[in-house]
Amino acid sequence: MPAPEPDFSRLGDARIFIDRTAYADQGAWHAAAERLRKTDPLPLIDVEGYVPFRAVTRHAEVAAVERNHTLFWNTRDSVLLPRARVEQSRALGMDIKTLIHMDGAEHRATRALTNDWFKPANLRQEIGQKLPVLARRFVDRMLEHDGACDFARDIALYYPLHVIMSILGVAETDEPRMLDLTQKVFGGEDPDVGGREGEDPVVIFMAALAELALYFKGITDDRRAQPTTDIASTIANGRIDGQPLGDLETAGYYSIIATAGHDTTSSTLAGGLEALIRDPAQLRALKDDPSRIPNAVSEMIRWVTPVRHFMRQAQDDAVVGGVALEKGDWLLLSYLSANRDDTVFAEPFRLDIGRANADEHLAFGIGVHFCLGAHLARMELEAFFRELLPRLEHVELDGAPESMATTFVGGLKRLPIRYRVRPAA
Ligand code: HEM
Repeated sequence: MPAPEPDFSRLGDARIFIDRTAYADQGAWHAAAERLRKTDPLPLIDVEGYVPFRAVTRHAEVAAVERNHTLFWNTRDSVLLPRARVEQSRALGMDIKTLIHMDGAEHRATRALTNDWFKPANLRQEIGQKLPVLARRFVDRMLEHDGACDFARDIALYYPLHVIMSILGVAETDEPRMLDLTQKVFGGEDPDVGGREGEDPVVIFMAALAELALYFKGITDDRRAQPTTDIASTIANGRIDGQPLGDLETAGYYSIIATAGHDTTSSTLAGGLEALIRDPAQLRALKDDPSRIPNAVSEMIRWVTPVRHFMRQAQDDAVVGGVALEKGDWLLLSYLSANRDDTVFAEPFRLDIGRANADEHLAFGIGVHFCLGAHLARMELEAFFRELLPRLEHVELDGAPESMATTFVGGLKRLPIRYRVRPAA
C-alpha cells in the first residue's frame, strides 16, 4: 500500500507546489501562485518526507537560476518526489539516470549524442513530410467519433504518442502498451492516469521500467545490426569516450524521449484547443489567418505549461531574488507560475494568439537543459492545427474539462467536445 499523503494545509498558498491535488483545480492554483509572486515569491516548503525547498515563482528568478547551471545543478533528484520513494528505488538500483538527472561534462556528452538529430533541418528531413499525413489521420479520427469525443483521451493522447513512438522505432501495435509503461514511469501520480488507487507507486514504477528496458533492448540490438537514420539508431550506435551506452543507459535515453515527448505535447494540444473553444473570437481569427498558427502555438505552450517544475540544488552559497541560500539548498522552478508573471506577460490570464512576446515563455526551460524536443513539439502542434482548423466547422464544450492531479507533467485528462469536422478535401 502507498503511504498516505501528508496534510499540506498548514502551508497555505505554498501547498500548491507539493500537493498534487492542488494542480487539478487550475483556477485556484493560479490564484494562489499569483498571490505568492506578489507577496512571498520564494516560499519555503518544509514537509516531513520531502527535502525542504523554496519554490521559485517569478519569471526573472526562474530564468536566472536556469542560466546559472554551474551554480545550480539538476542532480539525480531533479523531480520532486517523496524521499521514501527515491530511497526505495535507489536501494534497489532502479533509479534511471537520464539527461534531466545529469550535470556538467556528463550531461554535455550525453546530450551531444542526439542534439543534432533534433535540430530543425534534420527534423524537416526525417519527419517533415510525415507530420501532415499523421495530423490528417488523427483529425480523420475525429470524424469516426461522429461529432462528439473526449478530445484529451481520444485524440490528443495518441497523436504525439504515435509521432514519438514512430521515431523511436516502436511498432504501432505496441503503442498502447508503451503508453501505459511510460505513464507509469514518469506520470504515476494521478491514479486515473498512471496507476490505480491503492497500488504502490514504487512497485508500479519499477515493474514498468524493467519492461521498458527489455523492450528497448530489442530495438537497440536491431539498430546495431542494421543502422538507419532514425533517433533509435542514433542512440543505439552513439558513443561516449569511444564506448557505446550500456543497456540501462540506452533504455533510459529512449525512455526520457518517449515520456518527455508525448504527455507534454498532448497536454498542450488539448489545453490549447480548450482555450480556443472558450474564446471563439480567437478561434475565428486563427481559422481566418493560418499564418498566425506558429505564434498561437507558442502562446498555447505558455498557456498550458505542461511541465510544471524541475528542481535545482545550489552547489554553493547564493542569493536568489534577495533570499540567501546555503550550499545544498533546493529550489523548485515553477514554470507554470513564471509563465503567468505579469511583469513579463501583459494580461497573463488571457490566451492571446497575437501576443508579441509569447516566445519569452519558460515552458521549455532555458540554458543547457533547454527542451531537446522543443522544435519537434512545435512542428507537431502546428501540423495538427493546420489540418484541423480549415476543416473545423463548429466546436463547443460538451461537459466540464478535468485536469490531472500531478506535480510534474500534466494538463487536461478530459476534454469533452461536440463538433462538426469536414472530411479531408
Ligand atoms: C510542449 C511540449 C514540451 C514541453 C513544454 C517540454 C518541456 C521541457 C522542459 C521544461 C524541460 C527541462 C528544461 C530545463 O531544465 O531547462 C524539457 C527537457 C527535455 N525535453 Fe521537453 N518538452 C516538450 C516536448 C518534448 C518532446 C516532444 C521531446 C521529444 C524528444 C522532449 C524531450 C526532452 C528531453 C530529452 C529533455 C531533457 C533535456 C536535457 O536535460 O538536456 N520534450 N522539456
